[in-house]
Amino acid sequence: ADPDPLQDFCVADKSANSISVNGFPCKPASKVSSDDFFFDGLTKVGDTSNIFGSIVTGGNVDNFPALNTLGISMNRVDFAPGGLNPPHSHPRATESGVVIDGQVLVGFVTTGNVYHSKVLNAGQMFVIPRGLVHFQKNVGVGKAHIITAFNSQLPGAVVLPFTLFASTPSIPDDVLTRAYQVEEKVVESIKSKFSS
Ligand code: GLV
Ligand code: MN
Repeated sequence: ADPDPLQDFCVADKSANSISVNGFPCKPASKVSSDDFFFDGLTKVGDTSNIFGSIVTGGNVDNFPALNTLGISMNRVDFAPGGLNPPHSHPRATESGVVIDGQVLVGFVTTGNVYHSKVLNAGQMFVIPRGLVHFQKNVGVGKAHIITAFNSQLPGAVVLPFTLFASTPSIPDDVLTRAYQVEEKVVESIKSKFSS
């Protein structure tokens, strides 16, 4: 979904913070080395000790600057037993993914509110069309992890529980009570789960 590159590469220069462009300015080619094109960040098992029992480790332009202008990125998602990567969407990318180990329920909902889902085992792949709300849940006995791939250097993530109930400042309670047809105490209770 990202624009096409105009040169072989444009390794992001994260220190050029006085320049604002769509993406990041390029490091001078003379300063680019082989190391720029390799990234170890997805080798590590993520720490899943949080309320959802899952953690996304990003391999996008923010931590792998060589992806700048190339229109792709990857994530690693680790799951504790029962862990959930909560419903979210990516405004700038279609996502595909593969289960590396464990057993994972993958689901998404279309703009017509049709729910598609399947339980996947190691090696099995899925696709989430751009912008659609989706989740993954570890339904196996042990830990699980997946690798996901995106057609954007920075797909962005709208994580619905946080977007709706933990924004700054918060969405007014009367908006959420009307939207979800619940009492204010339900909204307050959900909001309280995300305040530190
Ligand atoms: C999984 O949905 C991910 O966004 O990496
Ligand atoms: Mn996703």
